[in-house]
Amino acid sequence: MSHTSSQYELGEILLSAEEIAEVVGRLGREICADYERKQPVLVNLLKGGVVFLADLMRQMTIPHHIDFLNVSSYGNNTSSSGVVRIVQDLSSNIEGRHVLVVEDVIDSGRTLTYIFNMLRLRSPKSLEVCALLRKPPALKSGISMKYVGKDIPSVFVVGYGLDYQENFRNLPYIAKLLHYKNL
Ligand code: PRP
Repeated sequence: MSHTSSQYELGEILLSAEEIAEVVGRLGREICADYERKQPVLVNLLKGGVVFLADLMRQMTIPHHIDFLNVSSYGNNTSSSGVVRIVQDLSSNIEGRHVLVVEDVIDSGRTLTYIFNMLRLRSPKSLEVCALLRKPPALKSGISMKYVGKDIPSVFVVGYGLDYQENFRNLPYIAKLLHYKNL
């Protein structure tokens, strides 16, 4: 399926809104079962993960807190730069807490490796990740990913929080981006 307008061109839809809801519901149930009576802190990576977090937390029936980390690894390019920059740190102390990092997509795994190393130094009681999407290079990163919504191929995707040059985050579905134009 192809959507064309004067401003952009999107390709195949990898996850429809309905499929996303199904995946998020499953992840929410798994997390609730594993974290009952643990009051986890969901650490959301801005900005891409914000839509996912908003839906995931509403699927959770156990007490939990949320906090935000703003990191940037891609800048405005379409491939990982390998440079991870902390734009905004957590507002709470995670020492002794069960921390679950909520990510929209894991690609090279560099961002997550950096974040895990940084958060481990703060002595959380446990540290895991919940990623909506995972691309093949992530499997080689050596990080164990406890909760994964869907494995997708190494293509550039937008929507449901994921952007290209800050655009497309509002799409209710996740689609391939076919052409990168200056918007
Ligand atoms: C994306 C995504 C992850 C990271 C994954 O963030 O949200 O944090 O890249 O890539 P990696 O596994 O290769 O490190 P991005 O830097 O695009 O920022 P954004 O969330 O604000 O869109």
